[in-house]
Amino acid sequence: MSNVAQYDVESIRNDFPILATEVHGKPLVYLDNAASSQHPVQVIHAIKDLYESGYSNIHRGVHQLSQDATKAYENSRAAIRGFINADCIHEIIFTSGTTESINLVAQSYARPLLKKGDEILITHMEHHSNIVPWQMICEQTGAELKVVPISDQGELEMDRFAELLSEKTKIVSVVHVSNALGTVNPIKEIIDAAHAKGIAVLVDGAQAVSHIPVDVQALGCDFYAFSGHKLYGSTGIGALYGKEKLLNKMPPYKGGGDMILSVSFEKTEYNTLPYKFEAGTPNIAGAIGLGTAIEYVQSIGLGAIAAHEHGLLEYATSKLKEIDGLRIIGQAEQKAGLISFVLDQVHPHDIGTLLDMEGVAIRTGHHCAQPVMERYKIPATARASFAMYNTFAEIDVLNEAIKKTIGMFS
Ligand code: ALA
Repeated sequence: MSNVAQYDVESIRNDFPILATEVHGKPLVYLDNAASSQHPVQVIHAIKDLYESGYSNIHRGVHQLSQDATKAYENSRAAIRGFINADCIHEIIFTSGTTESINLVAQSYARPLLKKGDEILITHMEHHSNIVPWQMICEQTGAELKVVPISDQGELEMDRFAELLSEKTKIVSVVHVSNALGTVNPIKEIIDAAHAKGIAVLVDGAQAVSHIPVDVQALGCDFYAFSGHKLYGSTGIGALYGKEKLLNKMPPYKGGGDMILSVSFEKTEYNTLPYKFEAGTPNIAGAIGLGTAIEYVQSIGLGAIAAHEHGLLEYATSKLKEIDGLRIIGQAEQKAGLISFVLDQVHPHDIGTLLDMEGVAIRTGHHCAQPVMERYKIPATARASFAMYNTFAEIDVLNEAIKKTIGMFS
């Protein structure tokens, strides 16, 4: 049972049609939310309605459909601004997701700034999308990548962070919530320490925004990146928040239509924010769906969602800890709703396959965080990740399915 008064999980579940489906003849227990959350009917209908009666290209047409689609697209930008409390709407850039947002900052903010001898500081718990773009920048500029280590529990070694943050550091890029460990990082402390040395900070919020209220002005971060598909929206859409004064100084990341004011062979004048960074026809339906997803999340309240998911995490942790031969990877004091684990005698891929036969969808593998696997000397983990619609009964199903899996291998 949820400890959260008036949190009506059954009514939330009714908004997500896919949760009523069966897999292998068993009710679906969807615990792969860190890879992608599911869509409520409100988002499905917003996208369906757009294609049935409101779709057109945006920013380009004088006709009514184009005007309406443009308005809906820009309303979503406004919804994102409010959701993360950015100062103004032109600080919100639509991207294809967190990966593109990080690449944009790497190429447009960091690349012109960096030279040989400079350093980029990331952490050992980053997703590949917050490692590889920086390695590319290092190759392009001669800068060096520095990595803050993590403890056995899965927490950043903050004393090492303080040592590694130096006059050579030109940007810090850190994950808010680890997709492989569930750790919630002390990003405010990181941002304040970096700013004290005049260093900009990018936060990868892909796993955070659907679980923790985020206020970019209170955090003071320079950039914040997230994706729609982990926030009850679609794939192929996400956003980058950037401080206006930084975005204004940055060159465009991609060239093309919509990001210009005028083009001639002699000189092209770039558009103003945010369009300077939005070349080409964007994912219009994805953006409109994301705005609806945010309204949906706000109608329930991130505080209530966070409390519910915390209850699920505590319950699942206590249940899984009782299982002989199960080891939880990532036991940070501050965790969001996911549990990575390994079993003594069963490879994670076998765990995933056998749990699937019970209707339980989890993710297995390295979770695009191979350095985390290397840190704990494991090839992979099984990962159960929770969302606002998961129930305590589903944790019981997970628990029994794991026990059954162990029974088959012993
Ligand atoms: N990065 C996503 C995950 O953690 C896909 O599953």
